[in-house]
Amino acid sequence: MSRASVSSAVPDAERVAATTRSAIGVPLPAVVGGCPRFLLASVRRAVRAGGDWQQVADRVAGVLRSQLPGPGIVTPEQLRGDPAGYQTHLLHAEPDGSFSVTVMVWLPGQRTSIHDHLAWCVTAVLQGTEYEEIFAPEPAATDRGPALRVIARNENEVGAVAGFAPPGDIHRVTNSGAGTAVSMHIYGTDITRVGSSVRREY
Ligand SMILES: [Fe+2]
Repeated sequence: MSRASVSSAVPDAERVAATTRSAIGVPLPAVVGGCPRFLLASVRRAVRAGGDWQQVADRVAGVLRSQLPGPGIVTPEQLRGDPAGYQTHLLHAEPDGSFSVTVMVWLPGQRTSIHDHLAWCVTAVLQGTEYEEIFAPEPAATDRGPALRVIARNENEVGAVAGFAPPGDIHRVTNSGAGTAVSMHIYGTDITRVGSSVRREY
C-alpha cells in the first residue's frame, strides 16, 4: 500500500509516497498507479495549448468535467484510506515535467494544512464531499507570517471541478462527509522532481 511518508522536509499537505531522494536528501514521490490513456491525452492537449496558468487550469478543468473518472481509478486497497492521514497517490508524471496527476483518499474528518501551490492546479471530487476554505492574506502580518481571513467556503460534491492558479490559491480541504472521499488533483508541475505541489504552509 502506498502511504504518505513523514518528513519535515516535505509539507504535510498533498504529500505523496516517497521512494527516492533528491540530491539534497529530500524524499521524492514515485508514480504508484495508472491513469487512463484517453484522459492523459486530453490533459496533455489542454496543457500544450498554452496560455497563462489560469487559462491552462481552466482548460484542464474542462477536460475533467467532460471525462471525469470514477473512484475506481485507484485500487481497492488505496480506497481504504489510512487512519494516520489522508493519502495521495501519484498516478502520472508527464515526462516533460509539465503536469502530474494524483488521487487523494480521505477518511471522514481528515484534512490538509492551510497551504498554497507552486503552480496551477485542478481538483475534482470523485466520491464523497469535500469542504474547502479559501483564504486571503490580511495587510497586517504576524510574527509567523501573514494573517489570513476566510474569503470563501465551498462544499464540493461528486462532479465538482475547480481550476485555480497562484496567487490567490491559499486553501484548506477537509473531508466533511460521513464516508471516504476521493478526489483527483492535477498540478502544473512534476511532483517526482519537486517533491510536493505545495509552495508554503501557513
Ligand atoms: Fe491544495
